[in-house]
Amino acid sequence: MLAREQVLDILSAVQDPEYKQSLVQLQLIRDVMVKENSVSLSLIATQQEEAAVEALKEQVNAALRNAGAADVHIRVRPISDFERGEIAKRTEGAAGEGHGHTHSHAGHSHHAQPQAAPSVGILSPESGTVFIAVASGKGGVGKSTVTANLAVALARQGKKVGIVDADIYGFSIPDMMGIEERPEVVNEKIVPIERFGVKVISMGFFVEDNAPIIWRGPMLGKMLRNFFNEVNWGRLDYLLLDLPPGTGDVALDVHQMIPQSKEIIVTTPHATAAFVAARAGAMAVHTNHEILGVVENMAYYECGKCGNKEYVFGRGGGGKLAEELHTVLLGQIPLGAPDNHPSEPDFSPSVYKADSATGKLYLEMADHLIHRLS
Ligand SMILES: Nc1ncnc2c1ncn2[C@@H]1O[C@H](COP(=O)(O)OP(=O)(O)OP(=O)(O)O)[C@@H](O)[C@H]1O
Ligand SMILES: [Mg+2]
Repeated sequence: MLAREQVLDILSAVQDPEYKQSLVQLQLIRDVMVKENSVSLSLIATQQEEAAVEALKEQVNAALRNAGAADVHIRVRPISDFERGEIAKRTEGAAGEGHGHTHSHAGHSHHAQPQAAPSVGILSPESGTVFIAVASGKGGVGKSTVTANLAVALARQGKKVGIVDADIYGFSIPDMMGIEERPEVVNEKIVPIERFGVKVISMGFFVEDNAPIIWRGPMLGKMLRNFFNEVNWGRLDYLLLDLPPGTGDVALDVHQMIPQSKEIIVTTPHATAAFVAARAGAMAVHTNHEILGVVENMAYYECGKCGNKEYVFGRGGGGKLAEELHTVLLGQIPLGAPDNHPSEPDFSPSVYKADSATGKLYLEMADHLIHRLS
């Protein structure tokens, strides 16, 4: 049976035709999943020509099969300009330090803690980080699911992304993303847990055995502030905040702490949900947070056999809300759990795979946001 590390080791021997370096070192191999003897992965192609891409794909395929993989599934996507820039930055850095990053898959060694970290806090506008708070009126409409998947999609598009699970009482991000480890403290800063390329901080990391948390109001704001100031985020393009439902204390704290934050409102298509979500929208407007758009979650159920769409929770709530808030409908996500299995090494209960129908919807949403925010 192959392990993920072996797959990366094997592919370290395969070079990218353009950069003449190992695919793994260049971080062009992503989303490696191994299940028994079947391997699936994403290959980021630097070449445009189809024949060249096919040849590389075949090299990867052959290398894995030689090592005993019975079944190899390779998804290919073209490299983005952003990713080219990142490679350029890394190779320059490596040249300066005199060679060393041969095992980039063993963590992000190219990001080894800078000794004298320029202490620009993540909340400072100079950090260049775009904050996106994900809000809703009602609970249970899928904020956390949308936050996790949108963050993963942004990371899949080559961005540096973090999540603050700002739902201090009702945290769910670690569980949804399948995170079991706890963060460490290095140089008196908390190191966020990285999963699917996304850095995550959650109250869930600091609670023993799912015990309930009882705090008075002022503590909430303090805890939230720690999530920004006491965590070593490094450089981030986007920091997503999963808010608790409604327009309570934490939502207000976030508005005050991060005046530059932008916002996404999640609703179901039901008219009542959209009506309640409008209040969260109104709060954003009131505090001058730009609303990036509305995500309609659980928008429909698509019959796997006939492809028919059933609008189980009603229809049109998201569109109507977007209109009301003078913003756009960013996406409509259908009902359906991710097709993930606990036996997969990269298992998570709530993150959709990049090549699944819903995974693709999130990628499109990420693309749209990247374009608008750049
Ligand atoms: N598109 C979907 N299809 C099927 N199930 C979904 C979908 N979106 C979310 N769910 C499920 O619905 C439940 C609620 O979702 P989630 O926890 O993301 O909502 P939330 O708005 O963050 O809730 P809360 O207000 O409690 O924080 C979860 O069990 C989640 O797995
Ligand atoms: Mg939630």
